[in-house]
Amino acid sequence: MPGMGRRQVGGSSGGESARLFAIAEARLPGAGLGGYALAKDLRFVFARGEGAKFWDADGREYIDYAAGAGALILGHCHPAVVAAAQKQIARGLHFFGALNDIALALAGRLARDIPCAEKIAFATTGSEATAYCMRLARAFTGREKVMKFEGAYHGNHDYALVSAFPPSPGGYPQGAADTGGQPAAVRDAMLIAPYNDLPAAEKIAEDNAENLAAIIVEPVQRIIRGGDDFLFGLRKLCDRLGAVLIFDEVVTGFRIAYGGAQAALGITPDLASFGKVVGGGGPLAIVAGKAEIINLADPARRGKENYAYFNGTLHGNPVAAAATLATLDELQKPGFYESLNAAAGSFCREAEKIFARHNVPAIAANEGSLWQFLLMPKPPRSFADIAASDMPAARRLDSEMLRRGNYILPGVRRFVSAVHGEAELQKTLRDLDEICRAGI
Ligand SMILES: Cc1ncc(COP(=O)(O)O)c(C=O)c1O
Repeated sequence: MPGMGRRQVGGSSGGESARLFAIAEARLPGAGLGGYALAKDLRFVFARGEGAKFWDADGREYIDYAAGAGALILGHCHPAVVAAAQKQIARGLHFFGALNDIALALAGRLARDIPCAEKIAFATTGSEATAYCMRLARAFTGREKVMKFEGAYHGNHDYALVSAFPPSPGGYPQGAADTGGQPAAVRDAMLIAPYNDLPAAEKIAEDNAENLAAIIVEPVQRIIRGGDDFLFGLRKLCDRLGAVLIFDEVVTGFRIAYGGAQAALGITPDLASFGKVVGGGGPLAIVAGKAEIINLADPARRGKENYAYFNGTLHGNPVAAAATLATLDELQKPGFYESLNAAAGSFCREAEKIFARHNVPAIAANEGSLWQFLLMPKPPRSFADIAASDMPAARRLDSEMLRRGNYILPGVRRFVSAVHGEAELQKTLRDLDEICRAGI
C-alpha cells in the first residue's frame, strides 16, 4: 500500500515537525497540549486526518488507533459528520449555553436511547460531566464521600485525580494524589477501592454508609472488563445504602454498544456521564440520569441548599450536537457494532497468534473495539494486575509500533474504528510480527 511502508517517525530528525517543536518548547509546557507528550525521537506535529489515517507536518502517514481518544468512532472527517457540522456552522457556531434546536434534538435522541436517561444535562467535556455527576449526587443525598476505583480515570478535576494512577496499588480506602495543587480535603472526600472486588467495595461502603453520596465506576475500566457480578453488586449496594450509582460512560458510551455499556449489561445506573463519541469529536458531553436528581440543576432552584450549579459557555454546543446526531445515524445502521467488534476481535486474536509464534508472553486485551497489548498471561481484573505486568516491555513494544507509523500512545488503551479496514489492520499485524521477531 503506497506510503504505508516501514519508515521511522519522529521530530528529532529535522523537518517541519522539528521546526514547530522548537516553537512549542518555548511556548507550551512539555511542548504539547496535555499529559501524553511523546519521547523526543517519536514525537511529531499533526497536520490533517482522513478516515483511519492522519499525516504529520512532514507529510508522514500514520494509522490512527488513538482515534481522538476514542471519540472518532467513524474516523477522521466522516463525510456525513463534516456536512452536518458545516451546515450548523453556517447557522451559528455557539449560543452561550442557551437552548438551541440542535441540542434539543440531540437531548431527545439521547433520552430515548440511553437506558438511564430520564433527563439529560449538557456539559462540554467528559471531565465536567463526571464532576457534575459527583456534585449532583452530593446535592441529592446531602452526603459528601464518593467511592471510585483504583486506576480509574474520570477526568482532569481534583476529585477525579485521586488514585487514577497511584504509584503502587493498595492502602484502601485512602487515595493518593495524582497531581500537585490538590486540596487534602478533596482527597479525603474520596474513597478508593480495588476494581472488580465486590467484597472490598461493600466493606468500604458500609464503613462509610452515612456519608456515602455515590459510587462512580467505569463499566470497562481502561481495558479491564467489569465483571457482571461486580457491576450488578454495585447496583444493589447503592440501592441498599441510598447512594447514587454513577456509570462513567465517557469511553464506553456508544462505543461498547449503542446506548452505552449499560444497554449491553442491562444495569441502569442513577446517573451516567457521556462524552467522546457523544460529542462527535466536538466540545460536548452530557450527564444522563434520573429526573429527580438532574432536576436539582434547574436554575429555578438557585438559592436552595440542594441546587446543583450547571453552567458553561459551550454547554449544548450546536456544532458538536450536529456532529453527534450525524454520528448516531451511522451507529444505528444495521450491523454497525457487530462488524466493528468482530474486526477488533479478530485483529486482537491474530496479534495473540503472533505473540505465541515468537514466544512473547503477551496478550492483546480487548473489550469490543477497545484494545491494548499487555505483557501478562491473562486479561487483567484490576489495576494491581496491570501494575504487576511488564509495563516497561509493553511500552517498548508500543513505541516500536508507533515508530512504524501505527499511532498508539505507549501504555494507553486504544481503539479500532469503523474505518480501519483490512489494509490498515494487516499492516499493523505485519509490523507487530517484525517487532516480535526482532525481540522486545
Ligand atoms: C472514563 C473517562 N472519564 C472521563 C474522561 C474525561 O474526559 P475529557 O478528557 O473529555 O474531559 C475520560 C477521558 O479520557 C475518560 O476516559
